[in-house]
Amino acid sequence: MTYINDEIIENIKENSDIVSIISDYIHLKKSGSNYVGLCPFHNEKTPSFTVSSTKQIFHCFGCGEGGDILKFIMKKENVDFPDAIKLLANKLGIEIDIEDTKNSTNKDEKEKIYEINKEAARYFLNTLERNKTPLDYLAIRSISKKTRRQFGLGYALNSWDSLYNYLKSKSFSDAEIEKAGLIGKRDNNNGYYDKFRNRIMFPIIDTRARVIGFGGRVMDQKMPKYLNSPDTIVFSKGNHLYGLNLVSKYSNRKRILLVEGYMDVISLFNSGINYAVASLGTALTERQSKIIKRYGDEVYVCYDSDAAGIKATLRAIDTMLKVDLNPKILLLPDGMDPDDYIKRYGPLEFEKLFVNAYNYIDFKIHQLKSEYKIDTLEGKIKFTTEVAKIIRNVKSPIEQDIYIDKISKEVGITREAIEKEIRGNNYNKKSFNYKNKDISEIKPVKSALPPAYYKAEIELIKFMIKEKDYYHYIIERLSIDDFNSKECINIYKQLNILYGSQEIIDEKVLFNKILEIPNLNKNSIDSIFSNSTKYQARDIENIIDDLIKTVTTNNLLMKRDKMLKEIEELEKKSRNAIEDEKFKQLCLDLIHLNNKINLDN
Ligand code: CTP
Ligand code: MN
Repeated sequence: MTYINDEIIENIKENSDIVSIISDYIHLKKSGSNYVGLCPFHNEKTPSFTVSSTKQIFHCFGCGEGGDILKFIMKKENVDFPDAIKLLANKLGIEIDIEDTKNSTNKDEKEKIYEINKEAARYFLNTLERNKTPLDYLAIRSISKKTRRQFGLGYALNSWDSLYNYLKSKSFSDAEIEKAGLIGKRDNNNGYYDKFRNRIMFPIIDTRARVIGFGGRVMDQKMPKYLNSPDTIVFSKGNHLYGLNLVSKYSNRKRILLVEGYMDVISLFNSGINYAVASLGTALTERQSKIIKRYGDEVYVCYDSDAAGIKATLRAIDTMLKVDLNPKILLLPDGMDPDDYIKRYGPLEFEKLFVNAYNYIDFKIHQLKSEYKIDTLEGKIKFTTEVAKIIRNVKSPIEQDIYIDKISKEVGITREAIEKEIRGNNYNKKSFNYKNKDISEIKPVKSALPPAYYKAEIELIKFMIKEKDYYHYIIERLSIDDFNSKECINIYKQLNILYGSQEIIDEKVLFNKILEIPNLNKNSIDSIFSNSTKYQARDIENIIDDLIKTVTTNNLLMKRDKMLKEIEELEKKSRNAIEDEKFKQLCLDLIHLNNKINLDN
């Protein structure tokens, strides 16, 4: 068997861009934030084959084929995994010496440690089944037998050498077992002792089903509560996530949820949430963030609701931002962790946390607010300065605009002052990229503080007026019912009539016709006619797509609000059979809707 080590695989994955590689095979066209083309795996006339550059995956909505770049190559070139790696490495000009790695002693050493770990896990598992105390402990924590088996939970006896003796009986050497991190040398150099004693054992398993290390928990109040395997040649904590093996097996990868602890992952899984992972007792690393990015379209963080958890959340957010991940945050009541919460309130309530998730900007602002006394002038200034730093890094100008409004209202500082602060001396040009050029031209209304979707509707109407092509592009994607503003609906109607006629009409004529529409609100007319928006041609499709997304997402969110209200109503009362059916259906619909919202964003 050819052996290719993980570093090489990771290196190749990180250096390959799925869009450019798939473009060697088929023609891809940009569509919103993704790329689409004709599926190479089945016959089709309209493109349903989608490639996501941010997620580095492909998916065909026609035939259901999907996966990462290696999967694509395996399928397209009809090769196995090692050959796909070689092929890809060759394409990328990365040299990999497969013969060398194959024969390296390092590889044999690693294999040995995997073997020892697997044997140990098997031993712990069997020991658990035969011991009432740890079984009772897991029962008290409501972990079902099925879940226990899924995670391969075990038990290390209260003994100094039972694991050691067992592994010796399987003819592993002292040195090998020590390298696996399972035993330590006794002080007087007189043999070895088991490191894990009288603990519930959590094997840490990678996505290739290998046991790479262990965590162990005491069953009482003794310290330390958790003990983890040391880093070894097969295990480095910053490179792995607890639970990823099951996420990779079961999750539909729409969401991934980062939690703090082993028990959180297990308890969530026990309640049907199969997309949670935990970083392994250390602060989240960039490496882990990159992995997270690959395993969920939408990333959520739900750490313990205590001072340490909040601090860790803020750090995790910053680490994730470095790899271009925009996490959302689930907030739990004071002092709780996900395990406590789902056990106390159940999965439906947990689902609601996603509905109320903070985006990371809101979360940071929320935290800053509790940090500074914003009812004092000094506090207000410090708070605004800190918030400005956050907003400065927000990429979308529409989003920036919303936050500026929000903060201005909240602390009573003028928009202008906040904008100045944002674009002040420390203004970091790099973080703005192309969109910063348009920021002053994009805000359509000065006085009122309309919500983002309303601004988006107006911007779209402006595009529709500007060019017939844009009009067609937009009406293919948004129907009149998707608009919420009365003005926009009226103008949309009028445009249908005007563009529908055979006459050739220019922008001026359109404007005049629109002015003739009765009862148009003055503010919207102003915003449509004022500062006509200037964009760079190459960005326009992206901008329109963003605007469309703002509108459609808002509509879904409104639908979701309505649904939640209905669910809450039904939840409160004692339901008859029909109502109970309706209740269940609504809950299902809610989950689907949530998935749709997550998928679209
Ligand atoms: N942890 C650790 N070493 C410790 C304490 C904690 O490695 N001495 C890590 C473990 O991964 C643990 C996580 O930090 O799962 C969170 O710790 P904590 O909140 O104390 O534990 P819970 O997961 O809530 O565990 P439990 O519910 O079993 O008390
Ligand atoms: Mn806990």
